[in-house]
This record gives sequence, structure tokens and C-alpha cells, in this order.
Amino acid sequence: MMSDRDSSEGFQFALPEMQSAGWLRCRLIEESDVPRLFEAVTASQAHLRPWMPWAATDYTQEMAEELVAAQTRRGGELVTEAIYIPCNDEHPFLGCFGLHARVGKGALEIGYWVDVRYTRRGVATLAAALLTEAAFSVPGVDRVEIHHDEANHASAGVPQRLGYAIIGSCQREPEAPGEVGVERQWRMRGQDWPSSAGAQLLAKARD
Ligand SMILES: CC(C)(COP(=O)(O)OP(=O)(O)OC[C@H]1O[C@@H](n2cnc3c(N)ncnc32)[C@H](O)[C@@H]1OP(=O)(O)O)[C@@H](O)C(=O)NCCC(=O)NCCS
Repeated sequence: MMSDRDSSEGFQFALPEMQSAGWLRCRLIEESDVPRLFEAVTASQAHLRPWMPWAATDYTQEMAEELVAAQTRRGGELVTEAIYIPCNDEHPFLGCFGLHARVGKGALEIGYWVDVRYTRRGVATLAAALLTEAAFSVPGVDRVEIHHDEANHASAGVPQRLGYAIIGSCQREPEAPGEVGVERQWRMRGQDWPSSAGAQLLAKARD
């Protein structure tokens, strides 16, 4: 199966409103996040390096500034990607989650990393559930996908816990040192979302 990563040319979407669920909310990245982003990546470098190509070299304040400058968006603006920060009152910055229009028309892909100091406590699962819900609030979006390298077992746990279905795998050049070069693709269809484990997780967190 060939990757259709670039087949979304021209697909722009209006930034979805983010909501919270229980102990977590997701908000758009903002200018004041530069020091928090830099600090979180620096603390997480060894954890990110196997999987995130941009973590291969030492992360600098300038890299954080560039990302934030490119991503700082206003509500209502049309974009091809949007970066959200999972957070709560205690922790203003728990990681970075993206919605990307790069997997074809009518589909958004979710990408993520979590600050190593807050892993294994459900941040990625709940934040990805919130982003899935947000993606389906965009008119015309009927599929949400999560892609990861086959060797990245931690990443696989997220779509699995949310009830995404595996739709296939494709070969691609490894981009980061932990990758074996087989990309596994998971999909949630709009029609399946309301009864999914992810939607149930959100409902339970909001009870
Ligand atoms: C992948 C990542 C985002 C998961 O974040 P997280 O907040 O720890 O994930 P969660 O706590 O929601 O865990 C969800 C499930 O994923 C799986 N999982 C998470 N971390 C795991 C690990 N280190 N080893 C094996 N499985 C793991 C488990 O099934 C887990 O459910 P469980 O805790 O009930 O067993 C985080 O490990 C990370 O930032 N990794 C580096 C960057 C990266 O690989 N990003 C994805 C690129 S495709």
C-alpha cells in the first residue's frame, strides 16, 4: 500500500474549538508556550529521539520559537495543520498534539508526543480522544487517522485504546532512529465514533 500523505493539497479546515474532558483540556499553542515547549522537549529528548525526526539534534530555543511562530493561529482562520497543548490547572504543558490535513480530502491525521515526565497516565489517550472529537466537528471530515512506525508500541496503544481500526501498513524510509520503516495506519470513521471506546472515554470523563 502506498502512503497518500501528500494527496491533500488544497485541503484547508477551520480550527476546531477544543473542549475539555475531566482532568484534561486541549488548547491551541500560543506565543507564551515557547519556554514551556523548549523545557519539555529538552527534558524529553532521549524519549523523543527514537521517534521524532526533529529531536535528532539538540533542541534549541530558536526551534521552539520557529514552531510556535508558524503555528500561532487565530480562531476562524483556515489552516492545513493545528497544534494543541494538553494541559490542566496543575500542568500548563503536557505535550504537543497536531491535527494535520495530509492524508486526503475529508480526513485529518493526529500526531502526538507527551512530555516524558507525564507519560503512562492516559494523557495521550484522552488528548487524542479530544482531538478526534474536534476533527469530526470540522464540516466534511469523515475520517481521522493515526499513523506510527510498527516498532513504536507506545504509540500503537493510543489508537488501540480509542477503538480505531487498523487499515493497513506501508513501507517508507525510516525518519528517526527507532523506526523500522513500516508505517501502520489506523482509522476512525465518523459513523463509528459515537459508539467507540474513545467517545465513551470522553463521556465518562465528563460525568
Ligand atoms: C506515544 C506516547 C505519546 C504515549 O503517551 P502516553 O500519555 O504515555 O500514553 P497513555 O498513557 O495514554 O497510554 C496509552 C496506551 O499506550 C500504550 N503505551 C503507552 N506507553 C507505553 C510504553 N512505554 N510501552 C508500551 N505501551 C505503552 C499502553 O497500551 C497504554 O495504555 P495503558 O497505560 O493502559 O497500558 C508517548 O510515549 C510519547 O510521547 N512517545 C514519544 C513520541 C512518540 O513516539 N510519538 C508518536 C509518534 S507516531
